[in-house]
Amino acid sequence: MLAAVLPEGRVLALDQDPEAIAHGRAMDWVRAAGEHCELVHANFVQVREVARMQGLAEVRAVVADLGFSSLQLDAPDRGFSFTHTGPLDMRFDPSSGGPSAADVVAATSPKELVRILRMYGEEPYAERIVDALVRERRVRPIRTTEALAELIRRTVRRQGRIDPATRTFQALRIAVNDELAVLTTAIPQMAELVAPGGSIAIVSFHSLEDRIVKRALQRLAASGWGTVCTRKPVRPSPRECQENPRSRSAKLRVMTRGISP
Ligand SMILES: C[S@@+](CC[C@H](N)C(=O)[O-])C[C@H]1O[C@@H](n2cnc3c(N)ncnc32)[C@H](O)[C@@H]1O
Repeated sequence: MLAAVLPEGRVLALDQDPEAIAHGRAMDWVRAAGEHCELVHANFVQVREVARMQGLAEVRAVVADLGFSSLQLDAPDRGFSFTHTGPLDMRFDPSSGGPSAADVVAATSPKELVRILRMYGEEPYAERIVDALVRERRVRPIRTTEALAELIRRTVRRQGRIDPATRTFQALRIAVNDELAVLTTAIPQMAELVAPGGSIAIVSFHSLEDRIVKRALQRLAASGWGTVCTRKPVRPSPRECQENPRSRSAKLRVMTRGISP
């Protein structure tokens, strides 16, 4: 992206994870780009405000790469992974002071927990898992990824290759970071920023996100904002999936803003 906009253009990159921003700022090519590559610790829902503060009234393109990164998944202390032992955190922005996944598990009513697991994890055994979780939390707090994953594995039998904890972990992450509401609010802001002739490209990683992206782009098309370029989402090739297995669930949708008469 930077190569495409140099020598005059700028890349403004947002991430709500302070560690991701620090990691990016330490990269040689980011440092070398100087003012042409600005990394800002912010949520995508703040994109309009951040662009204004950076003196950008319009942009040529917005690229939103959603979900979580390998940096986050592979760090046990972030609590995103059920294959590592760590605190049950899952906040993209731990500096926000908002509730962690452990707080949600400890303090949310059983009814609401069932709703979270069903809606955000599409978990068919939501009630069974929540029953076990509520029984357990009466005895001892569930504060680690391992404690939660083990409890789910004891409660729900594995079917096929997928770990039974997968859907609950996804659901809690979405709830902790309010991911779906954020996405719904952020897409119209991104559209407002894009100049006529410019584009929006969004990569999502699960069906709930993709549904929101698809509908938001359809709404923009119906309002006359522009044209959807991807009738079906672009998926990684078998070769890319082989080289980078974490890309296998990615779906890219692109839309271009019309040029006003
Ligand atoms: C799939 S990773 C991609 C990271 C980056 N594009 C890269 O290739 O290294 C998604 C990143 O988006 C960030 N993220 C997810 N939702 C966000 C939001 N609502 N606002 C800001 N950043 C967000 C996560 O913290 C994570 O670092």
